[in-house]
Amino acid sequence: MSTQAKGLEALVEAQNGAKGATRVVAITSGKGGVGKSTISANVAYVLARQGYKVGIMDADIGLANLDVMFNVRADRNILHVLKGEAGFDEIVTQIEPNLWLIPGESGDEILKFSDATIVSRFLDEAQALENLDFLIIDTGAGIGDTIQMFLKAADDVVVVTVPDPAAITDAYAMVKVVSKIKPEIGMVVNQVKNAKEGQKIFDTIARVAQGNIGGELRLKLLGTIRSDAYVARSVKQRVLVCKELANIAPAGDIEAVASRLGDKKEHKMLEGQKERGLGTFFKKLLGQF
Ligand SMILES: Nc1ncnc2c1ncn2[C@@H]1O[C@H](COP(=O)(O)OP(=O)(O)OP(=O)(O)O)[C@@H](O)[C@H]1O
Ligand SMILES: [Mg+2]
Repeated sequence: MSTQAKGLEALVEAQNGAKGATRVVAITSGKGGVGKSTISANVAYVLARQGYKVGIMDADIGLANLDVMFNVRADRNILHVLKGEAGFDEIVTQIEPNLWLIPGESGDEILKFSDATIVSRFLDEAQALENLDFLIIDTGAGIGDTIQMFLKAADDVVVVTVPDPAAITDAYAMVKVVSKIKPEIGMVVNQVKNAKEGQKIFDTIARVAQGNIGGELRLKLLGTIRSDAYVARSVKQRVLVCKELANIAPAGDIEAVASRLGDKKEHKMLEGQKERGLGTFFKKLLGQF
């Protein structure tokens, strides 16, 4: 049996200690290159280390693919499963204890597979993933149709920005689009000098959003992440910051973001909010409303 198949088996057996239905968190941005993949990979790693069962999926092939980041090879992805060319067990790879990579698909091709038979076969295959506590999705940048589909289907949307004015403008545009489909949006301000700078940027976006989008929207700062040259180097060296450079400032900052997502999940459960789980997510994603 391949190690990948064993990875999936471990997930099937991972029912014990599961903390409820899967919470799907989409990490997105207006402008590209702001740190979505870095944040997704590290947040997923931290949540897994905290004991959650975490899946991470890339819905975009950007500068740094997740498979590159985790230093594994993923030659087939979710699209191959949808086409019937691979089983789920062949694409899911266990990266760490509690952490599974689900190689995603960047193109709009995924949306063509909304045929009921394909979807139902896919959902059968994806059954093992129901045991996940979190599915972190690294979406592409911008407001394309596929990305919006992912955001719509997710439980939580996190918009990432950096202090650069163009990124802030694009982040606001993204918030505006997402506000039409989600009442609550999380924000992360990455690559800041200090927390104060990040808070200021968030306050500006929140103020403009309040004035133009209106009172319905709840924009929440999930955290600020300090800039550090080691982070940029870590991607090239295929090192996970929160695992191998845990002492640098951004590692602690990312841990705080992960903890907030963890707290939020527990909170929603206490409130009795019904989490929809992964089956519903994929059904929504593939257009089975
Ligand atoms: N806090 C940080 N400090 C320093 N460098 C960072 C930080 N966060 C991310 N980077 C660097 O910025 C670059 C872009 O990050 P990343 O690839 O995660 O962004 P992205 O939003 O996923 O990009 P894309 O839109 O291309 O997918 C990488 O070289 C990464 O290492
Ligand atoms: Mg990326």
